[in-house]
Amino acid sequence: MGQFDLTGRKALVTGGAQGIGAAIAQALAKAGAAVMIGDIAEANGRSMAAEIAKSGAKTSFTRLDVTDEAAWGTAIAATIRELGGFDILVNNAGIEVTALVVDIEASSLRKMLDVNIVGALLGMKHAFRAMRPGGAAGKGGAVVNISSVAATIAFPAIAGYSATKSAVDRLTRVGAAEAGKLGYGVRVNCIYPGLVATEMGLKLATDVVTAGLFPSVEAAIGDVIGLTPLGKLGDVEDMANAAVFLCSDAAKFITGIGLPVDGGMGS
Ligand SMILES: NC(=O)c1ccc[n+]([C@@H]2O[C@H](COP(=O)([O-])OP(=O)(O)OC[C@H]3O[C@@H](n4cnc5c(N)ncnc54)[C@H](O)[C@@H]3O)[C@@H](O)[C@H]2O)c1
Repeated sequence: MGQFDLTGRKALVTGGAQGIGAAIAQALAKAGAAVMIGDIAEANGRSMAAEIAKSGAKTSFTRLDVTDEAAWGTAIAATIRELGGFDILVNNAGIEVTALVVDIEASSLRKMLDVNIVGALLGMKHAFRAMRPGGAAGKGGAVVNISSVAATIAFPAIAGYSATKSAVDRLTRVGAAEAGKLGYGVRVNCIYPGLVATEMGLKLATDVVTAGLFPSVEAAIGDVIGLTPLGKLGDVEDMANAAVFLCSDAAKFITGIGLPVDGGMGS
């Protein structure tokens, strides 16, 4: 593993109960990190932590609604107390509400802004405070934000979601600049996943059919694959491998980037 080894690192993965976040939690643990799963889905989150622990990794679960600032304080304190430190934050929790521009509802738009933007930024705020010199963990670290290919292409019925994921791209870059210039010892990067067949990804494929854009789910997925030079969808492990790389010392001179993991779709 060499420079990709995360032995001794302590990670908090938001939205780690299922999908891409669960795969990231598993991959970080496989690379040697101790992992705290933070999610609103308590039963799934606890069972995912227990599942990962079977491999011998140190894992735990904390209830974290990323939109709740007080909950961030509690989750990071739990990570430091239970895992013995805090070096890695993966801001993965996110939601997607599909709607054509003509149908968009302010309430679902605001909910996406709250989870995808406010949630990620609060995570960065509290991670910086904990990781920077003099903080409760104090040894620097790495933040990986999960943006989306939706930040780099125009796909119908996801205007609001795309806007939130473009914001994640920008807050990553500003966060990286601040953390670097102010000597926090924290690198901040983001990943743009392509469509992945998780609960969210499959619901999107169904929703664009309901919106009348495609005749079937197969046609919708076929359209995405057609736009993808590598000619297939990625899987959760593809996203997890990129996250491990960005968290590891193999990426120690990389900060403020957005890494597409999309088979070339956004190129
Ligand atoms: N699946 C895709 O095609 C795809 C593509 C690009 C980007 N993404 C992004 O990847 C991330 C993970 O997506 P996924 O496909 O695994 O989604 P998913 O819906 O399968 O899982 C999301 C997880 O986040 C949790 N969550 C939701 N709101 C939360 C909150 N307020 N606080 C804490 N946890 C919360 C859920 O309980 C769930 O465990 C999201 O940020 C998503 O936008 C997904």
